[in-house]
Amino acid sequence: MEQYELEALEAVTTRPAHPYRTLTVQRITPVIGAEVSGVDLSKELSTEQWEEVVIAFRDHHVLVFRDQLLTSDDHKRFAGGFGELRPVDPPPPEGDPHILEIRTTAAAANVAGNGWHTDGSADAEPSLGSMLYITEVPEPGRGGDTMFANMHLAYEMLSPAMRSLLDPLTAIHDGAQAFQGYTPPEGYVVPRSEHPLIARHPETDRKLLYANRAYTSRIPQLSPQESRALLDMLFDVTAGRPVLHCRVHWTPGTLVFWDNRCVQHHAIYDYYPYTRYGQRIAINGGAVKG
Ligand code: SIN
Repeated sequence: MEQYELEALEAVTTRPAHPYRTLTVQRITPVIGAEVSGVDLSKELSTEQWEEVVIAFRDHHVLVFRDQLLTSDDHKRFAGGFGELRPVDPPPPEGDPHILEIRTTAAAANVAGNGWHTDGSADAEPSLGSMLYITEVPEPGRGGDTMFANMHLAYEMLSPAMRSLLDPLTAIHDGAQAFQGYTPPEGYVVPRSEHPLIARHPETDRKLLYANRAYTSRIPQLSPQESRALLDMLFDVTAGRPVLHCRVHWTPGTLVFWDNRCVQHHAIYDYYPYTRYGQRIAINGGAVKG
């Protein structure tokens, strides 16, 4: 590894653990993700529990809550504590407008999220985060994991010269690229937005790489060839460096909350012909901060 890569890793892995009083928070990998126990999400959280969940989310970006028995109202109440619920887009033909059903069967034409992406990055104001509650997992309890990547560290492990090149650039995020193979409802306006290529987390101001293979189509300041080569290199960084990742193995009743402002994820489709089912609620965010 290069010295600047080691320094970036060292800075992240040596950060002190917060002294939690009401929760137990165990890191999944040294750089991203934590399993949180000591909280029942079907009940109102105490003020101190809320404060500690917020701290854990800020520090670990992906929180895993096991053995939860939740109604849709419980799920919405917990999500609503972090902001306004985000309507599913395009809207579901029936059911709750805030609940995206994630259902994969052997007959599925499309498998949601089976590639590295950030939820809704083509929107002018992408979501703050997503909460997925999985109740049915592939038999025999194998497969269907989700991987997450720390996009702060993806940026910080680039060479100083590469970071200087990327810092002032923007990128186009195009829903049409992500929706290939899926026909949106008639009249639906496919989102397309330009965001900073290197964004800052709105709460910590820490920089991160904001480009994902599903939605990001072009760096407008570069020629098409330059843009393609640079984006492919950046996508390879996200996918090809396991040191940026954690991997969540789902059990029924697991809720995972991830920060779309600094995390990419990939739902691995490795469980044909089995079924996987869950419900996802997203929370509104703001414009991507440069
Ligand atoms: C998604 O939000 O992309 C789905 C994630 C998953 O199914 O694990």
